[in-house]
Amino acid sequence: MEHSNRSVDGQSISSIRLRAFGAEHDLQVLREIRRDYALQDILMAYPEESRDVSDDDVLAWVSRKERDGVFLVVVTERGPAGFVQLSNVHRKGEYAWFGIAIAASSRGRGVGRAALAGLIDHGGTVGLRKIIGDVRADNSASRAMCEGLGFEKAGTYRSHYRGHDVIIYEKHLR
Ligand SMILES: CC(C)(COP(=O)(O)OP(=O)(O)OC[C@H]1O[C@@H](n2cnc3c(N)ncnc32)[C@H](O)[C@@H]1OP(=O)(O)O)[C@@H](O)C(=O)NCCC(=O)NCCS
Repeated sequence: MEHSNRSVDGQSISSIRLRAFGAEHDLQVLREIRRDYALQDILMAYPEESRDVSDDDVLAWVSRKERDGVFLVVVTERGPAGFVQLSNVHRKGEYAWFGIAIAASSRGRGVGRAALAGLIDHGGTVGLRKIIGDVRADNSASRAMCEGLGFEKAGTYRSHYRGHDVIIYEKHLR
């Protein structure tokens, strides 16, 4: 699944690919993401400071995500850069929650935006009617990305995650 992107500060990537987990070097970027305390806190995963993450932990986590919905690795011309996911897929309601994380070294070049756009397209092809995102109110990058892709603010959970407000975004696909 390819998705092209527009220029971001003259440093755009030309396109990204979303594909199933599988390549040996996917583990490296996913381990980096799973070990990054600040990133996990932004994802509202209630990380523990002293947590050690082994390759087996990463593999078990990917398996859980694949069972739960859709889990795809984001690949740029430089290699694997992060992941996108659809979770808590409601088959009858035809909605699901998105998740995304891009490794720090690949951010700010349009990769996240192109990857989420690709995930939205994928959601449409698997019959989803709506995609929802819960975003920490202080997560300016994610909020800009969501709003730029046409997500609308549906509400706010007050003091929801470790004292942070959380914005509920939704995007209707049809
Ligand atoms: C959020 C995230 C996926 C964005 O990915 P990215 O590749 O850095 O973002 P992009 O370069 O595609 O930029 C997307 C938009 O965010 C804006 N943006 C990027 N970084 C930003 C920052 N630090 N502050 C404010 N806005 C920012 C860009 O200007 C762009 O807006 P535009 O489309 O209106 O021009 C990435 O920062 C990330 O993985 N963050 C940690 C995990 C996370 O927050 N996940 C989402 C949880 S809901």
